[in-house]
Amino acid sequence: MTDIKYRPRRSCLYMPASNKRALEKAKTLPADTIIFDLEDAVAPEAKEEARENACAALQSGDYGNRELVVRVNAMDTPWFAQDLRQACLSQADAVLVPKILNADDIIQITDFMEDHDASLDTQLWAMIEMPQAILKLTEIAALGPQRRLTTFVMGFNDLAKEMRAEHDRAIFGTVMTQTVIAARAYGLNVIDSVYNDFNDPNGLVAECIEAKKLGFDGKSLIHPAQIETANRVFAPSTDEIAEAEAIIAAFGDSINAGKGVIVVDGKMTELLHLRQAKQLVATARAIKTLAD
Ligand code: COA
Ligand code: MG
Repeated sequence: MTDIKYRPRRSCLYMPASNKRALEKAKTLPADTIIFDLEDAVAPEAKEEARENACAALQSGDYGNRELVVRVNAMDTPWFAQDLRQACLSQADAVLVPKILNADDIIQITDFMEDHDASLDTQLWAMIEMPQAILKLTEIAALGPQRRLTTFVMGFNDLAKEMRAEHDRAIFGTVMTQTVIAARAYGLNVIDSVYNDFNDPNGLVAECIEAKKLGFDGKSLIHPAQIETANRVFAPSTDEIAEAEAIIAAFGDSINAGKGVIVVDGKMTELLHLRQAKQLVATARAIKTLAD
């Protein structure tokens, strides 16, 4: 069973692994996670080269403490097996598999990974972007604790296409909530979809705020200009940290010893809020450690 330790995933930046300039630039970008894409952003004739570039990047040791993920091609493509094999052998932190349909897909993939990475070092991340996957969210998420599935990543470009819907964020509200609930029920991480209009900073801020409110850990990104916003919005704010510290201090005060409910700053505060406050402070600490 894969142990899901918390680490910041506020900003998960995709880049086509065929783009050497982007691969180079990523070594200095403050993204928590880098996703080397072999799929949608890479033309068929560049697939082999992109795979080689991604593996070389994984083995280079040049990306500091950024989490390194490879998005492989889908299971029904001629590139899938080799992508998955090479990513595991190159010790990617995770492999992100697109077009997941159901729990059987997860079983097949993790059986295959077992043959190439028996140490379980490489996690499996699943794109949630197919209507079939939305209908099977619970059974997919439930495999997480037994298999190495740790993270869901929403893919609204594909989902809109499959639904024949307009790409309007408003239509995805229900799916976002369902996905967060399924993920959290089984202890998975969950990352929001991309914002295509990378020249519109206000639109990005609005999407990040919405996703944070819904419980997402972070946002997948397509351009370096989007990193700072995601890092800021998904990090606990100064006010949130102060409030959490006040709750921890109040429960630590001897006059509140043994109490399950107290009043902090005029609000009812229970032990569940204390646990939440400790988690928030730990998150802030993990972000600080990553930056140091
Ligand atoms: N990761 C790392 N570096 C990136 C980057 C990314 N996703 N996107 C752009 N850059 C780099 C460029 O290489 C360029 O670097 P330079 O300063 O060394 O020249 C710099 O940032 C500025 O790029 P810019 O000119 O503004 O963008 P562009 O027009 O070259 O590219 C996109 C725009 C959308 C094509 C590009 O950002 C991209 O490929 N994004 C990722 C797409 C993807 O992976 N999609 C799959 C998931 S949906
Ligand atoms: Mg896609």
